[in-house]
Amino acid sequence: MKLKSQKIGRNDPCPCGSGLKYKRCCIGKAPAPQENLEQEYKRKYQIQLKKTRDIEGIRKAGQLVMETLDLAASIIRPGLDTEAINTLVHDHTIQNHAIPAPLNYRGFPKSVCVSINEVICHGIPGNNRLADGDIVNIDVTSILDGYYADASKTFFVGSPGPEAQKIVQVARQSLKEGIAVVKPGNTVGDIGYAIQQYAEGQGCSVVRDFVGHGVGFEFHEQPQIPHFGKKGQGVPLVPGMVFTIEPMINLGGTALRILSDKWTAVTKDGSLSAQFEQTLLVTHSGCESLTPY
Ligand code: MF3
Ligand code: CO
Ligand code: CO
Repeated sequence: MKLKSQKIGRNDPCPCGSGLKYKRCCIGKAPAPQENLEQEYKRKYQIQLKKTRDIEGIRKAGQLVMETLDLAASIIRPGLDTEAINTLVHDHTIQNHAIPAPLNYRGFPKSVCVSINEVICHGIPGNNRLADGDIVNIDVTSILDGYYADASKTFFVGSPGPEAQKIVQVARQSLKEGIAVVKPGNTVGDIGYAIQQYAEGQGCSVVRDFVGHGVGFEFHEQPQIPHFGKKGQGVPLVPGMVFTIEPMINLGGTALRILSDKWTAVTKDGSLSAQFEQTLLVTHSGCESLTPY
């Protein structure tokens, strides 16, 4: 049996949606140029999809970020002042012909964020010292050949107590839970949902006031990546998207306050907070970390 023809008849309604007959409307005209995904994501969401050469650039910046984080980790010990971490990160970045993105970013005075214990993020290095049992997040962002990569880890100083072990384990696994759902067809909301389900299931809370972000051409690009959310909501993930996932997880409540330095975010209840961050690329089959660990 012959299938009914898929061809548009002269007397059929015009596919352009005008309501006119095809023969009275678009029949002779060239088809409208197809908008590609890159143009669509820029127009709808202000998201800049990355091309192969951009991805190579961000991957190189990411390699330097990971090398710098490893170096910083190697000097952590009780008694070290956080200024020493800043000096190490700054000098290593410059020696590698890169720029530390935090320095002078919206007035941030240092080259790296160092956040101890109840500090959620954006801790400013200075003359405060690490103590045995502390947890410390080091957040490194480098600009290499104009490309940004952003990653952080939380470390133990000396021997951790049970609360420190708990919050660091839950924060590390929260990032993994988010990464596990990064693939085309899933949405930004799926990432937040996965993280929130896991972290709250462990009796911890998810920070709402800071989110992951697009990254690569600039420090903070669209889209925002909340670490809480609903399945299926938000922007659909497509290959070429590059963004961070960086859940900040608290042992107590989610409420925070900002210190008088205008940067340091601390838990209102004084409970421990931990964070892990990677820069991720959405690929055809899932995702690739550009700051792998
Ligand atoms: N690296 C942080 C992030 O993950 C941003 C730090 S902004 C700074 O987005 F100014 F404090 F460096
Ligand atoms: Co970030
Ligand atoms: Co960061």
